[in-house]
Amino acid sequence: MKAKAIVYTSETGHTADYAHLLAKKTGLPVYSLADAKKALPHDTKIVYLGWLMASRVKDLKKAANLFDIKILCAVGLAPSGFQLDEVRKANNLPAELLVFTLQGGMDRAKLRGVNAFAIKMLIRMLNAKVDKTPEDEGMLDLLNKGGYYVCEENLTPVVQCLRGE
Ligand SMILES: Cc1cc2nc3c(=O)[nH]c(=O)nc-3n(C[C@H](O)[C@H](O)[C@H](O)COP(=O)(O)O)c2cc1C
Repeated sequence: MKAKAIVYTSETGHTADYAHLLAKKTGLPVYSLADAKKALPHDTKIVYLGWLMASRVKDLKKAANLFDIKILCAVGLAPSGFQLDEVRKANNLPAELLVFTLQGGMDRAKLRGVNAFAIKMLIRMLNAKVDKTPEDEGMLDLLNKGGYYVCEENLTPVVQCLRGE
């Protein structure tokens, strides 16, 4: 898989951490989307990493308008490799695009404005639910206490794909 650079968008740091780990593992240069706009030629083949917000990959359209996305990594709350169908559907992804999901985490202390408000509302909604499922309880726990799940192992399939294995 020929990609010339890694480009990411991150709000609280998990996606940035994955992007830098991937750069360390592959030797590819890494840029935030804002920096990539200035540094990379139009249509450069890239791996794009973006965080999930209401099932949508943040700034995916912006990145796709500028670059040729060869691999997409969506960073969210679910364990790596889960919610692939949901991500494909919600983002209208073409079947030929290689997509991976990576577990990031939750760091509410770094959230501001509408993002902080949305998580507060989600917590309120889950708390108000009468028959909470174990998944609801797990989600509440993660949202309330926070968590950090970024690790190199989660990137193994992405690295293998980039190496053409
Ligand atoms: C407003 C908001 C909406 C979110 N929606 C989703 C979602 O739909 N699915 C999911 O898995 N994670 C969701 N998350 C969790 C983030 O994707 C997760 O915290 C991720 O690790 C953030 O990456 P970052 O640290 O690079 O910004 C949401 C977070 C916020 C703040």
